Amino acid sequence: MRFLAILPVLLCAAGLALSLLCLFAGSSKGFMEEYAIVTLNTSRIGASVLNASHSSSNPILSYIDNVTNSIENEINQDLASFARDLGLHDFYSAHLLDFCEGYYTPGPVPNATLSRAKIHQNVTSCLNRTAMYSFNPRHILQKELNDSGHGNINLTSLDWPSDVDKGLHALVIAQRATFVLYCVAIALIGIAMLLALASIFMQGRLSALVNVLVDWLAFLAIALASAIATAVAVKAADVINKYGDKIGVHADKGSKFLVLTWVATAVMLAASIVWCFDCIVGRRQKRASPRKGSYVDEPRY
Ligand SMILES: *[C@@H]1O[C@H](CO)[C@@H](O)[C@H](O)[C@H]1NC(C)=O
Ligand SMILES: *[C@@H]1O[C@H](CO)[C@@H](O)[C@H](O)[C@H]1NC(C)=O
Ligand SMILES: *[C@@H]1O[C@H](CO)[C@@H](O)[C@H](O)[C@H]1NC(C)=O
Ligand SMILES: *[C@@H]1O[C@H](CO)[C@@H](O)[C@H](O)[C@H]1NC(C)=O
Ligand SMILES: *[C@@H]1O[C@H](CO)[C@@H](O)[C@H](O)[C@H]1NC(C)=O
Ligand SMILES: *[C@@H]1O[C@H](CO)[C@@H](O)[C@H](O)[C@H]1NC(C)=O
Ligand SMILES: *[C@@H]1O[C@H](CO)[C@@H](O)[C@H](O)[C@H]1NC(C)=O
Repeated sequence: MRFLAILPVLLCAAGLALSLLCLFAGSSKGFMEEYAIVTLNTSRIGASVLNASHSSSNPILSYIDNVTNSIENEINQDLASFARDLGLHDFYSAHLLDFCEGYYTPGPVPNATLSRAKIHQNVTSCLNRTAMYSFNPRHILQKELNDSGHGNINLTSLDWPSDVDKGLHALVIAQRATFVLYCVAIALIGIAMLLALASIFMQGRLSALVNVLVDWLAFLAIALASAIATAVAVKAADVINKYGDKIGVHADKGSKFLVLTWVATAVMLAASIVWCFDCIVGRRQKRASPRKGSYVDEPRY
C-alpha cells in the first residue's frame, strides 16, 4: 500500500469537482448564477441618449414621448430600469455554456437607502446552451428588442458602440478555446484521479513517474484554461466599460469564477508536487538501503 497516494487522489477529486463546476456554473437557472465569466449590466442603457438631444428624430425619443411622460422622470431619479421599458433585461451574464438574463431586485441602481450589497440578481432564464458558444450582446439585445415589439429601435439608435462588437469579436476564438481547454483539463484530471487511485495499491517509481506526467499535463491544461478565461473576462469587461460607459452599459468580470478556476489550478499543482515528492523519496529510499535486497528490489511496479 502506498498511503501517500491518498493525498493526490483527494486533490484530484477536488480539482475535478472544481473544474466541473467551472464548466457547468450557470448552465441552468439558479445554479451558481453568480459564477459568471462576465456580467453585462444594461439596466441604464440609453439613459444618456435620452439626455443628449430631445430634438432628434431618434426612435427612442419618440417611443418615450409616446409611452409615458413620467418615464423620463423615473430615469433621472434612478428609480426605474430603462432597459425594462424597452423590453430588455437588467443584466446578461456569460457563462462557459450559455448566458443568463434577469433583473436586479429590488432596483438596479444603488441609492441612499439601497446599498450595492443588497442588490440581487434575479435570473429569469438561461439561454442558448451550446458547446462552442460565444457571447454576442448586440445580437442578444437586438433580438430582445425585436421580440418585445421594439424592432423599430435598433441598437445603433441606442448608440451601441461598434467598438464593443469588434472587441468582443476578437475574443471569439479565445472563448471557444476556453471551452475546449476545460473539457481537456477535466478529462486529464479524471485520468489523473483514476491513476492515483490505482497507485495506492502499487509500489515503485514507475507508477509515480506516470502520475507526475499525467498530473503535470492536467495542471497545464487547467492553468491554460484559467489563464485564457481570465484574459477573456478582463478584456471583455475592459472593452465594454471603455466604450459602453457613454451609453450606460457596464460590465463586471466574474471574480468568483476566476477564484474557482484558479483554486482548481492550485489544487492540481499541489497534486503534481506530491507525486514529484513521492518520486524523489522513492528514489532516496532505494539508494539508502541497497543491501536490503529482496525487500526493496522486489518487483515494485
Ligand atoms: C442628464 O442631464 C442632467 C442635467 O442636464 C444631468 O444632471 C444628469 O447627470 C444627466 N444624466 C446622464 C445619465 O447623463
Ligand atoms: C406613437 O403613437 C402613435 C399613436 O398613438 C402611433 O401611431 C405611433 O406609431 C407611435 N410611435 C412610436 C414610435 O411608437
Ligand atoms: C432606492 O431605490 C429603491 C429601488 O429602486 C427605491 O424603492 C427607493 O425608493 C430608493 N430610495 C431613494 C432614497 O431614492
Ligand atoms: C448597473 O449600471 C449602472 C450604470 O452604469 C450603475 O449605476 C449601477 O450601479 C449598476 N448596478 C449594479 C447592480 O451593478
Ligand atoms: C424574481 O422574479 C420573479 C418573477 O419575476 C418574482 O416572482 C420573484 O419574487 C423575484 N425574486 C426576488 C427575490 O425578488
Ligand atoms: C445561439 O447560439 C447560436 C450558435 O452559437 C448562434 O448562432 C445564435 O445567434 C445564438 N443566439 C443568441 C440569442 O445568442
Ligand atoms: C430584428 O429585426 C430587424 C428588422 O426589423 C432584422 O433586420 C434583424 O435581423 C432582427 N434581428 C434579430 C437579432 O432578430
